[in-house]
Amino acid sequence: MEKFNPRKKKIVRNQAPNLLIHILLVLVFCILFVPLINQTVTYLFLSDQEALNITPKIKQGETDTCAGRYVYIHNLPSRFNDDLIESCESYAELRNKCKYLVNSGFGPPILEDEHNHTTRVLTTETGSWYSTNQFMLEVIFREKMRHYECLTNDSSLSSAIFVPFYAGFDVRRFWGYNVKLRDELGEDLAQWLRERPEWRKMRGRDHFFVTGRVGRDFRRVSDQDSDWGNKLMRLPECENMTMLSIETNSCCRNEFAVPYPTYFHPKTRAEVETWQRQVRTVERRYLFSFVGAPRPEMEESIRGEVIKQCLASQERCNFLNCDTPSKDCGNPVKVMEVFQDSVFCLQPPGDTPTRRSTFDSVLAGCIPVFFSLDSVQYKWHFPDDHTKYSVYISEEDVRDGRVSIEKVLSMISEEEILSMTNEVEKIIPKIIYAKPGAVGPDKIEDAFEIVVSRVLERVSSLFKNQDNDPNLGMT
Ligand SMILES: *[C@@H]1O[C@H](CO)[C@@H](O)[C@H](O)[C@H]1NC(C)=O
Ligand SMILES: *[C@@H]1O[C@H](CO)[C@@H](O)[C@H](O)[C@H]1NC(C)=O
Ligand SMILES: *[C@@H]1O[C@H](CO)[C@@H](O)[C@H](O)[C@H]1NC(C)=O
Repeated sequence: MEKFNPRKKKIVRNQAPNLLIHILLVLVFCILFVPLINQTVTYLFLSDQEALNITPKIKQGETDTCAGRYVYIHNLPSRFNDDLIESCESYAELRNKCKYLVNSGFGPPILEDEHNHTTRVLTTETGSWYSTNQFMLEVIFREKMRHYECLTNDSSLSSAIFVPFYAGFDVRRFWGYNVKLRDELGEDLAQWLRERPEWRKMRGRDHFFVTGRVGRDFRRVSDQDSDWGNKLMRLPECENMTMLSIETNSCCRNEFAVPYPTYFHPKTRAEVETWQRQVRTVERRYLFSFVGAPRPEMEESIRGEVIKQCLASQERCNFLNCDTPSKDCGNPVKVMEVFQDSVFCLQPPGDTPTRRSTFDSVLAGCIPVFFSLDSVQYKWHFPDDHTKYSVYISEEDVRDGRVSIEKVLSMISEEEILSMTNEVEKIIPKIIYAKPGAVGPDKIEDAFEIVVSRVLERVSSLFKNQDNDPNLGMT
């Protein structure tokens, strides 16, 4: 009911003279119909409630388990989502991503091979492993949203509004083109949203969208063509929305980091437990491992040193080189095998501070080793204290050759390892995007569920605070 306060204020103000007449009428009415007054008041109250709370799902007398959790999905014109996917092949910059769009963005399923190698590494019998590309989150998330248990078709009932825009596909298709072209669709979206009646309620503060790319792709500072990305996240409309991306360099005013997708998309909790059991009991032959490529063109990068140290620790470090024509590193089975075979997994920054690899290693029950605290930004999904589930080694120390990674890791006690491994195992369900559809006790409290509840909490607190905001609800 409270949600409509801003509008009520408006009506009361504009209609002040009418109100007086109303009061007079009500007085006369009261005098004439005193015996009926109780009934009338009750009736008015109920009809108000009806208009606000009752949804198609709820029968009288039942409690609404969705109360406060309703989400409305904006029905965007297809140029903001489906058209981008349909024309995927026609953009040179998108072409190598198109094959990953199948299965609602999960990608092609990982099949058994004739040597049963896949079966030994993954739990493939349930068909829950896919070759998922790291940039598919916006497609996956939209599909998950479509299956969200508390959807409403009536936007006035919703606590939050989802904007199914494929921002990552949009920015990527015009890589290297002029800024006008890069910004066009985002500006079009902003205008479209601003003109909808839904925008008025909170000026977009109950709206949210998800991008499958890193935030800095959408935060171009100048209008020079040589600058990176587009300026979607700098548009005034976007500053009022909640924005979610796989990495943020501008946490936490209204942009938040959410997990990169992994290869595992199970349907039930039982499947997750089976997987957790497997990673708990697997024998890990290596102390540590690194899956990645060097960055010779980046002077600051510590990857060269990390690889050098890994190769020097032959017996104890397993290196899967991503800089080879064999493409082993793009093979989910190979990657998961390496991570399952080591206690610690090195996660030095690549082009940006975070890596999809961190999520794959957590999924494999391998303790991540970070070299930059910027890599630790998924506050909604990981424990607050990063020392509980990961190891931190200073990037500078590695760069200057002052630290031996092997030495640091081999000094960590068995008990500490056990305790960190336990934490890592508990994180697994929170960073996966489960297959949509499960309900009841079988449903997994996955990355998606966590994101949606955090967004709802955030919108609700913004709503409570808007009484203190002179700009809202008064025009
Ligand atoms: C693979 O597994 C199947 C079923 O578990 C079995 O019948 C087959 O012999 C196995 N193949 C190899 C090469 O081990
Ligand atoms: C919304 O409306 C569409 C079309 O009328 C219907 O198919 C869908 O089930 C409705 N969804 C909800 C959550 O009521
Ligand atoms: C964003 O919100 C502020 C205050 O809540 C409001 O003044 C502003 O007009 C909003 N921006 C847009 C583009 O609606």
